[in-house]
Amino acid sequence: MADKITAQLGGAEETLFIPLAARARETGKRHPLLSDPRAVELVQSIDLPVGKYDRGRGSVVMVLRTALFDAWVRSFLDTHPHGTVVEIGTGLNTRFDRVDNGTVHWFDLDLPDTIALRRRFFADTDRRHSLAASVLDDDWMDRVATSPGPYLFVAEAVLVYLPEDDVRRTLTRIAHRFPDAGIALDTYSRRMMRMQHNRVEAAGLDARWGWACDDPRALESLGLRLVESTTIARPPQPLRRRLPLGYRITLPLLHQFLLRIGAFRVALLHTRPHPDGPGA
Ligand SMILES: C[S@@+](CC[C@H](N)C(=O)[O-])C[C@H]1O[C@@H](n2cnc3c(N)ncnc32)[C@H](O)[C@@H]1O
Repeated sequence: MADKITAQLGGAEETLFIPLAARARETGKRHPLLSDPRAVELVQSIDLPVGKYDRGRGSVVMVLRTALFDAWVRSFLDTHPHGTVVEIGTGLNTRFDRVDNGTVHWFDLDLPDTIALRRRFFADTDRRHSLAASVLDDDWMDRVATSPGPYLFVAEAVLVYLPEDDVRRTLTRIAHRFPDAGIALDTYSRRMMRMQHNRVEAAGLDARWGWACDDPRALESLGLRLVESTTIARPPQPLRRRLPLGYRITLPLLHQFLLRIGAFRVALLHTRPHPDGPGA
């Protein structure tokens, strides 16, 4: 224990250990749908009450979500190999390590305490930068705008923790500042939000969800266009083909179930082009 790193994070920040533990757990499987040896390393290096953050078999939901976001980022990079990806609320996500094509420009944005912890493990380079800021701050967008477009903003399991007004304001600001950019995010229904609050209370976590969204189409009023809205059980075709057989059999059933209960969605949106051009 003595040589492990101690992390002292607030309620919002400590939630990063939940998806981290999920990716580490998945990596240990014989046929993982996503392999993240870096996550295993991080879990082993930090002094963590793993039981508090490990969701057991339920972890697969987070891993499917992450694999789907990875697929969207890869697809963006196929078309725009020199573009810029901004990982909002990055936590200890290792997406850059999983998808780096050697030319992408990358920003990992999170609250200062999280970025301080990240910096113990990840060094900035000429293409990869960490940004210690709240997504609600103004300055980070100026920094991102110095990097070459097109842009893809990825917000996995982060906006849900913000109050609805802040989510709307953030998305509106991104839409205005970065016309023609992609935004990948996840949305959770009101019903899910109520269930989640009971669950985190039982787990001893402080963070509460603040934003429920029953249908991501509602976000189109913020200057966005919905490109895709799906469940975590229906990843893009190239990823589906690579999945272990067990997943290929069970995912269509899970997809139908998730559609029926309307629990949560992953959505890819596009900011609308506007006549004033980028950076207006
Ligand atoms: C559940 S974790 C998700 C981490 C990461 N996206 C992943 O999937 O592994 C939520 C993250 O959002 C970050 N966060 C919460 N509020 C934020 C804010 N206002 N600005 C930036 N990041 C924030 C937390 O510090 C935490 O790292």
